[in-house]
Amino acid sequence: MDIKLRSGTPADAEICGRICYNAFKTISEAHGFAPDFPTSEVAISLLTRMLGNPKFYSVVAEIDGRIVGSNFLDERNTIAGVGPITVDPTVQNRAIGRHLMDAVHERAAERNFAGVRLIQAGFHTRSLSLYAKLGYEVREHLACMQGKPLGISIEGHVVRAATEADLEDCNRMCREVHGHDRSGELQDAIARGSATVVEHDGRITGYGTIIGFFGHAVGETNKDVKALIGAAKEFAGPGLLLPTRNGELFRWCLSKGLRVTQPMTLMSRGLYNEPAGAFLPSILY
Ligand SMILES: CC(C)(COP(=O)(O)OP(=O)(O)OC[C@H]1O[C@@H](n2cnc3c(N)ncnc32)[C@H](O)[C@@H]1OP(=O)(O)O)[C@@H](O)C(=O)NCCC(=O)NCCS
Repeated sequence: MDIKLRSGTPADAEICGRICYNAFKTISEAHGFAPDFPTSEVAISLLTRMLGNPKFYSVVAEIDGRIVGSNFLDERNTIAGVGPITVDPTVQNRAIGRHLMDAVHERAAERNFAGVRLIQAGFHTRSLSLYAKLGYEVREHLACMQGKPLGISIEGHVVRAATEADLEDCNRMCREVHGHDRSGELQDAIARGSATVVEHDGRITGYGTIIGFFGHAVGETNKDVKALIGAAKEFAGPGLLLPTRNGELFRWCLSKGLRVTQPMTLMSRGLYNEPAGAFLPSILY
């Protein structure tokens, strides 16, 4: 089997998006979970944005001229984000995924990223094994949580929309928690109008790009992240990603009626700092 790899282009979005939808749907349904993408259109739309954004590196795998998979590297931040990686279910488990991962690792090395990260579906034995073999460490067990918006405020913690003027304070917050900022991602979220900040004692003590699957949040304390979650109008996509080691925050979400929809795993390769504060990771975008 001759696997050819090439860069992706916006013209690949439709085929890669369908493969992405089918790959996730097949593995999720085989385990009794809801698919990450509700329709193939949602997957096509995400990949259209990524393939058209120069800050995302993309790689497409072909066999005999037929597209069989794709992978991405989010290059907006100090630590690069890997995925979504998907392989056509009819040709999985034949090393195409390994080649697609090698391609983004080569790219990350060329671009001098100190580390890469990804989030893995916790029930998926194949991706867990592949990533571990490729040198990824398990960093956090996550609960993907979904439910009705809470409409709760936390005393003394005011949540408002983020603006460009908040960027440096938010980046400082992120550096305090993660050791690096996620400025590129935050700038995109501010431009989209989805980012929020929380203020306490007259200063910014947390922010979120989106409270949900495709956004991250950081806070000095659990109260800051609770304020962001409490104010969210929805938990976008399949749900927010909550590190279950943070038992206090996890139990608070459960006590407010949020339900765990699936287990996930945060994995990293290269530089990783143990977080010092409260945080919600993002699946990617
Ligand atoms: C995950 C995915 C991209 C991997 O691609 P793939 O082409 O199927 O995987 P590969 O054949 O390259 O690699 C699988 C590796 O895991 C190993 N493996 C598979 N199941 C295993 C298990 N239960 N225990 C141990 N090892 C296992 C294989 O032996 C292989 O290792 P090798 O490279 O050393 O031979 C693909 O299966 C997919 O699209 N899945 C659905 C979508 C998805 O979950 N994407 C990832 C999101 S995090």
